[in-house]
This record gives sequence, C-alpha cells and structure tokens, in this order.
Amino acid sequence: MNKKEIIQAHYQEPLVFELEPTNYPKYYAPEIPPEIMKNVPATDKLIPKEMLRKEPPKLPSVAEFQLARHYLRLAQMNYSVDTNFYPLGSCTMKYNPKINDFLSMDRRLSDVHPFQPARTVQGNIRILYETEQMLNELAGMKRTTLQPSAGAHGELTGILVIRAYHYDHGEGEQRTEIIIPDSAHGTNPATAAMAGYRTVIIKSRENGLVDLEALKAVVSEKTAALMLTNPNTLGLFEQEICEIAEIVHDAGGLLYYDGANFNAIMGRCRPGDMGFDAIHFNLHKTFATPHGGGGPGAGPVGVVEKLVPYLPKPLPEFDKKTGTYYLNFDVPKSIGKIKGFWGNFNVIVRAYAYMLSQGAEGLKRVSEQAVLNANYLKKKILECNAWTLPYAPETPRKHEFVLEGQKLKEETGISTLDVAKRLLDLGFHAPTIYFPLIVHEALMIEPTETETKQTLDKFAEAMKQIAKECHEQPELLVNAPQNTAVPRIDEVLAAKEPILSWQMYQERQTEK
Ligand SMILES: Cc1ncc(COP(=O)(O)O)c(C=O)c1O
Repeated sequence: MNKKEIIQAHYQEPLVFELEPTNYPKYYAPEIPPEIMKNVPATDKLIPKEMLRKEPPKLPSVAEFQLARHYLRLAQMNYSVDTNFYPLGSCTMKYNPKINDFLSMDRRLSDVHPFQPARTVQGNIRILYETEQMLNELAGMKRTTLQPSAGAHGELTGILVIRAYHYDHGEGEQRTEIIIPDSAHGTNPATAAMAGYRTVIIKSRENGLVDLEALKAVVSEKTAALMLTNPNTLGLFEQEICEIAEIVHDAGGLLYYDGANFNAIMGRCRPGDMGFDAIHFNLHKTFATPHGGGGPGAGPVGVVEKLVPYLPKPLPEFDKKTGTYYLNFDVPKSIGKIKGFWGNFNVIVRAYAYMLSQGAEGLKRVSEQAVLNANYLKKKILECNAWTLPYAPETPRKHEFVLEGQKLKEETGISTLDVAKRLLDLGFHAPTIYFPLIVHEALMIEPTETETKQTLDKFAEAMKQIAKECHEQPELLVNAPQNTAVPRIDEVLAAKEPILSWQMYQERQTEK
C-alpha cells in the first residue's frame, strides 16, 4: 500500500449552528434556592436596563457528544507547537513543558481573590517576589515590575517610566525624541508614539548593526531614549553596545532593551552590564507559556536603580523582621497601575516554575541550544543555494536568522509567500515572512532550543525540495497549500472584508 503521510486532519466540518439539532434533554442550571436568591439583587439593578438582552441568546441545540466531536475535530485540523515544528521568527514558538501549565492550575494559586489580605496569600506574594528576584538577576536590573501583560505593554510601561524620570529631573518637556534602528520590531515605534514621543529612525550599516556615526548625528539634548533589541531582529549581536550606551548616556538619554529575544543571551550576558537602563521580558516567549492567538502573556519590566521610584505599584516585598511578604503601595513617584491586580498571575507562575525547573545552568543551556539550532539550520538551508543571507553572512547568528528570497524570485518568479504556503503542504508552520522590512522577500526563521537535530534536518530537507520545485514544478508553489484543512485563502479579501462571527456570516449571506 502506498502510505501517504497525513499532514493535517481535513474534515468537512459544519459550523456548530449547522449540526442537526437533537431532542436530547437540555442542560439547565439548577434553581438557586429561594433563601439565597432573596439576597441577590435583581438583574436590572446590576446591569443598566438598556444593556439587558431583549431576547435569550440563540444557542445551538445539540447533544453533548456532538459538541465534543465537533470541537475535537476542529482541534485536529489545527496546527500548534504540540503538533510540529513552528519556526515563526521573532515569536519564539518553543515547546512549553506541561508541568508549568499544571502548576499554574493549582487551585491554591488560581482560586484566590486579588483583594484577599496579604496574610492569606503569603505563598502567592512569595512567588511574585522570587520571580522578580530571578528576573533582576538574569537582566542585571535593580527591580522588576511583573504587571505588564505583553511585550508591547512592557515597552509602553518602560517608556512611561523613562518619561517620568525625565520629568522628575526637569527635562520632560525638552526630551521629545526616541531613537530606533530600522531593523526594530514594529511595536517599538508604536510604543514611542503612544507615549507621546517623536520617533527618529536610524539606518543599519551594511553589517546589519547600528551605525555609530548615524547615531551620533541624531542623538541630542532632545533624546529621551534609544530602544534596541540585542541580538537584533536579524539575529545579530550589537558588538559595539558599550559605545552605543556611552553615546546615548553622554547626551542624557536612557537605553531601553527590547527583551523579546532574551532566549538568545539568557544566562550568558546581561542587558544591565551592557549599559541598558530598562528592559522588558516576554515571559510567554522566553519563559515557557503557550502563546499565539493573542495571549495571555506577561511583559515584566526591569529597571536600574535610578528608575525604581517610577515603577508601577504595588511592588512585592519581604519584611525580614516579621518574615512575611506584602505588597507595597507606598511608591509616591510611581507611574501608577498599568494592569489590574497582580498582572497575569498564571503566566508569572509558569515562568517561576520554568526557571526553578531549569536552574541557572539549565537557563544557560537554553540560550546555547537556541543559538546552536539557529546556526545549524541556517547552514543547512544555505546549502540549497536558493536563498541568501543578507547582512554580514559570515557572522554567526544568535537565536534566529533572516533569509532573502529576492534571487529566487528573480530566477523563478516564486515569491516568499509561495514558499511559505508550500511549507504548510509539507507539514511545517511557515516562518515569519516579509519582516524585518530591510530584507527583500524575507524569511525569518527561529527554530528555538526545544527542537531536535532530526526535526531541523527534516525542515532543511523540505526547504531543499521547495528550492527544486521552484524550478521544476512552480505550479505546486503558486497553488499551495493543497494538503491542509484550508486551501490558500484570498488574503486581500480577508483583510478588506473580514467575516468574524456567525452573525456576520449570516448577514453577508442574506445580503447576497
Ligand atoms: C522583538 C520584539 N519586540 C516586541 C515584541 C512584542 O511582544 P508581544 O507580542 O508580547 O506584545 C515582539 C513580539 O513578537 C518581538 O519579537
């Protein structure tokens, strides 16, 4: 028998509303006993009348087994880190050990109320306190707030802290600019703009690194900060980081470290030692929380001593005299609260468990393995002679690398988008494409530390096959994917006319 490898389940699955309704007994919530009910305020006392539903929601009437099968089939059509390799550059889609999820679901951690008195949640505050200590140590920072709920949220928090510092030192009005290299992640300029700054973009040199002369030309008494990720989005380490820090500091500006790429350096070197004043971590990337699909995440922000007074409050503290943990709200210059309660506590618990399970040596090995995997895969793919490695091709990359597909496109007409779609046919999630913008037809590949050599070899083989197909069977690429649950979608139409709910779908059908 000719065995065909199954890439992805492919069911003709209807919507839940289209399943055959059943007359099975429906589930009703039990009646609330009258003695309890008499203490519950009437719904219209809790919710303004105009916001109350006019009629009950239209729920599908299907049996439990239909529902279980429906959602299982949808899950089987899905692709995830638990299914296969997910080299989505800059997103660090590593495998996340299940023990961390398991611990975060412990009811003693998940079922507490954020307003409980500190004495009743000592263990939880201790987790906050110790997580902070570990992050301080890893980044070389004095204190870290755990409140922000994503990398971009951390960036905003960090820049608001820097802003508060400049205002407190009488330079808030004068320092109106934030300098950002052209290889930066899009969230950096967005953050600067949201915090009320003008962004000044500096071009990278031919070797992909910050151009010191270009930096000197724009840095001034208007500079509030430089935002930088190191290694940058090309996977290159800024070797002149100490000179960069000196230039910015001499002008009175501060250095902000976008720590989204932290798994490239964790345990090997520290942003604080490079001269950075503030950093955000992406706990959901570096410290093992399943992510994608919008969350939840956590973007703690670490700062050097002079920025500590401006951190969001409260900060977790330990009172040595009484041996108890507490939350300190007495931070008079704080920028205030940036997220409700304690931040995304269950993500913090996962990071805490991950750091403890790895230990200091384990965290060091994580970054070593991430870098080794990226350089191994880069070499294997370059052997295909189809893609090139722009910017300092001889320099080793850190955790990721960016290939250029321009030559391939000129020779065969096949674009990076076609290559990405064909990878889906071969059973792999596509890399990040068309980012960073300074690379033509970019393919940004981040294998992460959790993948085996066997997987990396399989992926390199798939790329080799695609390189051959570009010349010999281009129709396979332009029509890809064909082996997936959903074929190539019209991305322009999807962006212009998104249908995001059953209701929108129905409305669209009646319009036709
Ligand atoms: C370099 C870099 N900075 C910032 C971010 C933003 O992080 P988040 O998606 O958690 O907001 C990302 C996310 O991929 C990133 O790669």
